[in-house]
Amino acid sequence: MKAARYHRYGDPDVLVVEDAPEPRAGAGAVRIRVRAVSVNPIDVLLRAGHLQAVLPLELPAVPGRDAVGVVDEVGPDVEGAQVGDLVFGLGGLSDTTAELAVLTAWSAVPAGWSTEQAAAAGLASATAAAALEALGDLDGATLLVEGASGAVGSAVAAFALAAGARVIGTARPANQVHLADLGITATTYGPGLDERVAALAPAGVDAAVHAAPSASLPDLLAIVGDPARVVTVVDGEGAARLGLRQVNARNDSALLRHAADLGRRGLYTPRVEHVLPLGSVAEAHTLAQGSSGKVVITLP
Ligand SMILES: NC(=O)c1ccc[n+]([C@@H]2O[C@H](COP(=O)([O-])OP(=O)(O)OC[C@H]3O[C@@H](n4cnc5c(N)ncnc54)[C@H](OP(=O)(O)O)[C@@H]3O)[C@@H](O)[C@H]2O)c1
Repeated sequence: MKAARYHRYGDPDVLVVEDAPEPRAGAGAVRIRVRAVSVNPIDVLLRAGHLQAVLPLELPAVPGRDAVGVVDEVGPDVEGAQVGDLVFGLGGLSDTTAELAVLTAWSAVPAGWSTEQAAAAGLASATAAAALEALGDLDGATLLVEGASGAVGSAVAAFALAAGARVIGTARPANQVHLADLGITATTYGPGLDERVAALAPAGVDAAVHAAPSASLPDLLAIVGDPARVVTVVDGEGAARLGLRQVNARNDSALLRHAADLGRRGLYTPRVEHVLPLGSVAEAHTLAQGSSGKVVITLP
């Protein structure tokens, strides 16, 4: 099969498209003929070698954490999936940007999502659903989302709104209009956040999700006032120092089914900014590391 791969860590130009061994679906997994994948921040960090001390990859490595495609092989002990199903979901740490990929967590793609939107939903929605699971019932609560314009943050916001929360979200000025369209009360990130949020929520904020590569975790804690009500998907060191929880995505199909259910009801639609073909994988990674919105790679 054709796959994007890199033989050494480095800049996006280490990425090549070449023949690679076909993966097989093991127990509890399905193999899909991939239609599209998204580029997530972790793909960029892994390829650049920034995580090799903690998450070393066997090289050559295929980038990609999530994908959408059509099931072409069902592994042992799988119930409820059939060859021909159109699904989106999660592969391993790094292995989806290829003609064939193995998923160990997946959901049917809801009607109403394009292939590209389904590609963008995998890791972002699993992370968002896990973060909100940690906070429990948010019906009637006010939730602050740092990074509400991002893939994870916008999923957090959509899921929380669907659960009955009021959501205040941060984004750069150019992205505020997207937040308002979703029903999020938008503000900017950076110094003075506490004052801006106090003006928007005089009665206080009940919980916060930190979903941005920012150093604002202490500010979020000061705003909410209770470490049990603040979670980060980014800053593990800060979480340990401040006594609050870091949450990571899990390969759990229930999280993806939750996202798909909201998609079916029109309450969550992943936003995609750039779509490139597999042959432009290096350009896709360059775009993704420039914080210009979600990048999706399509396969023929
Ligand atoms: N733990 C996990 O399992 C897991 C899984 C997925 C992602 N993550 C992490 O979660 C973070 C978000 O991922 P993503 O896929 O949503 O990325 P993304 O789509 O690139 O979104 C990044 C978000 O951060 C905001 N941002 C950028 N610089 C900021 C700053 N200095 N202060 C405050 N906000 C800032 C962006 O706002 P503007 O674009 O409006 O400037 C945007 O909302 C990344 O750090 C990623 O590594 C963790």
